[in-house]
Amino acid sequence: MANVRSRISGTGHSLPQKVLTNADLEKMVDTTDEWITTRTGIRERRIAADDEYLSLFVAEASRRALEMAGLKAEELDLIIVATVTPDQPIPSTACFVQHMIGAKKAAAFDMAAGCSGFIYAVTVGDSFIRNGLARHVLVVGAEILSKYVDWRDRATCVLFADGAGAVVLSAEENGRGLLSSAIHADGSMAEFITLPGGGSKIPVSHAMIDANLHTIKMKGNETFKIAVRSLESVCREAIERAGLSPADVRWFVPHQANVRIINAVAERLGWPPETIYLNIDRIGNTSAASIPIALDELVRSGRVQPGDILLFAAFGAGLTWGSGLIRW
Ligand code: ACO
Repeated sequence: MANVRSRISGTGHSLPQKVLTNADLEKMVDTTDEWITTRTGIRERRIAADDEYLSLFVAEASRRALEMAGLKAEELDLIIVATVTPDQPIPSTACFVQHMIGAKKAAAFDMAAGCSGFIYAVTVGDSFIRNGLARHVLVVGAEILSKYVDWRDRATCVLFADGAGAVVLSAEENGRGLLSSAIHADGSMAEFITLPGGGSKIPVSHAMIDANLHTIKMKGNETFKIAVRSLESVCREAIERAGLSPADVRWFVPHQANVRIINAVAERLGWPPETIYLNIDRIGNTSAASIPIALDELVRSGRVQPGDILLFAAFGAGLTWGSGLIRW
């Protein structure tokens, strides 16, 4: 399998219909549009309805990505869904989606790596392709964070949002595709972003819910500082591994957690604003979904040219961080 790479042959995304604006949040918690916009860059976000669940969005994003790739679901060898907000703990959301889209021969599993989940999943899917174990891999990043947010906690509820983004990775030998990736973790800072309750350590109970352990907690300011440093270094790592330099990057497609983090990283790497793809103002922080949603918007806008170098980078719960470099 010499020189086989994973090319992104299709992209797709799916969002809930319901829009929640900063003005709506002003009525729910002690916050202002001005605070949210200047501190995060978010103006509005999409929130799932009560009867909507993750696999609905994963399946829709996946169908769109398969359509762009010109592939039938039956041709998929593997489905990886990166998420921390699955339909239910057992079975995996990937298995529900395998059935929903009719990907009969695909193996399927979920991966949890917080906001870095999509990059982790692309890295795993790529190794299946380069080892000859798969020709077509569906990688989806998807979250319904709104159902795990404490809607009384202004420090988190203004940030998180819902959606799904999918890519199809296909084996190719023409030099295009994933050139390099880098993934990292540091569990010593696990408490920076957590949802403590509902697992085997603190199982579901009335007391757990009364103690509000079933919602997301984040040390935002501490996370912010580490995010900028780690993202800069992991971007450089993927670029150097591919034998390129930051100036070769045409599109920086980062995890959309905070516009100030993104701009700080871009500044350190010398990228002008036209290199950065931003949609955080409309989409908010959709964790593992944010990069594939942004990528699909960018690709469908017609602005990515064959040969362009794209860089993905993400940082999130774990702590985890990672990057991936693509020749389009
Ligand atoms: N409206 C008004 N005031 C607020 C709000 C709000 N929504 N939220 C917090 N504040 C207040 C705080 O109470 C604090 O007030 P104080 O000074 O009186 O104590 C003040 O604003 C400043 O709070 P900070 O937390 O220091 O604000 P900061 O500038 O750091 O911005 C933010 C907070 C947006 C969360 C930022 O720290 C951030 O983006 N952090 C990184 C998040 C991240 O990247 N997470 C990883 C990915 S997410 C994942 O993995 C699921």
